Amino acid sequence: MLKKIPTTAVPLSIFEIVKGFRSFFGNKSYIEEFEREFAGYMGSSHAFSFNKCTTSIYIFLKALKKLSNKQEVVIPAYTVPTLVLPIRKAGLKPVLCESSLDTFTMDLERLPEVINDNTLCVLPIYHFGFPHKIDSLLKVASENGFFVLEDTAQAPGALIDGKKVGTLGDAGCFSLCRGKNFSTFNGGMLVTNSDKLAEIIKEERDLLPEQNFSFKIKIPFILTAFSLVTRPLIYGPFYKLISRFKHTTVHASFEPKQYSDFQAIIGLGLLNRLDEFNEIRLKKGMVLYNALKDNEHLILPKITENSTPVFNHMPVVFKEIETMEKVQAELWNRGIDTGRMYLKPVHHLYDLGYDMQEELFPNALYIAERLLTLPSHPYLDDNSIKKIINVFKSI
Ligand SMILES: Cc1ncc(COP(=O)(O)O)c(C=O)c1O
Repeated sequence: MLKKIPTTAVPLSIFEIVKGFRSFFGNKSYIEEFEREFAGYMGSSHAFSFNKCTTSIYIFLKALKKLSNKQEVVIPAYTVPTLVLPIRKAGLKPVLCESSLDTFTMDLERLPEVINDNTLCVLPIYHFGFPHKIDSLLKVASENGFFVLEDTAQAPGALIDGKKVGTLGDAGCFSLCRGKNFSTFNGGMLVTNSDKLAEIIKEERDLLPEQNFSFKIKIPFILTAFSLVTRPLIYGPFYKLISRFKHTTVHASFEPKQYSDFQAIIGLGLLNRLDEFNEIRLKKGMVLYNALKDNEHLILPKITENSTPVFNHMPVVFKEIETMEKVQAELWNRGIDTGRMYLKPVHHLYDLGYDMQEELFPNALYIAERLLTLPSHPYLDDNSIKKIINVFKSI
């Protein structure tokens, strides 16, 4: 089969990419305009751009270090493992909290086990674009004097009780990397309503190096390739070549830098269409969700009341690993690519000083070993949705 549905895609037109060339002429800062528009979209007082979400987390933590001597930063045990890097680069200690089989992210009921007088910051993460309530966390944070950075990398535009996630805590971070709902190939944003934090973040951000000349020359070509390879008629025939560019190793470091004007122009265009993309994702994602939610072989994340998920992916956890492997192979045969995301809990990939004799985070391990992500992006057509549902019906 030639056509294949990729795991992730952002419908970025070549016309939108060409607009980026405006950044090569004149003195206008498109980055400033993009930051203003992004803050406006989120309903935040301040927004700052970076080369990666990882950099935004690093800069936020550096800012916190100017306000507090506390050292520990709490993340879920099942998450994007490279979150360890900005924490360590800021000279702080990553601490894990068990994951929940209800939300596939940090189990906030288990948080009291890991917070103490040395907790500087907690990162609730809206995995796969599913918002959940963080009121209890915000209450504990204000009682105990630690900060909350909402990691909204996978959930830009998602709502809870009518409010955008990423604007509920002290700050929210967003990723514009290639697997996300809103992507300029790479990039990261940080929003905050705190003038005090914004002042320090700006100072730190302005000290970061700009993207170099070679990046600025390459980025139009990279974005063009990115826009083309995620189209099902190209992804299928060129899969072997494309798969060489997929990350399979865990990163050991990252380079904090500023965002680029070229990408800011693309970002401005995509921001105008983000709600439209999210609505499409929600519609397709909910068709899959409703078709799979009663399947006895699966666990799906619960959808919180009064929330609007943005389906960065449609995640399913299989009760049996063998079933997952069969389904993954069968979907591939029928032209649907799927993802396995983080194959191990964070402490299995980085030495964080945890005792490895007994499994300290069994839920995180369970999710890591059994989670498959189904596509839910705008290029997923109705016929492919039917094929996915039929494969699941056959197990
Ligand atoms: C939840 C989460 N946080 C942080 C990041 C890091 O984003 P970036 O690659 O833009 O640094 C990602 C990216 O995969 C993510 O999914």
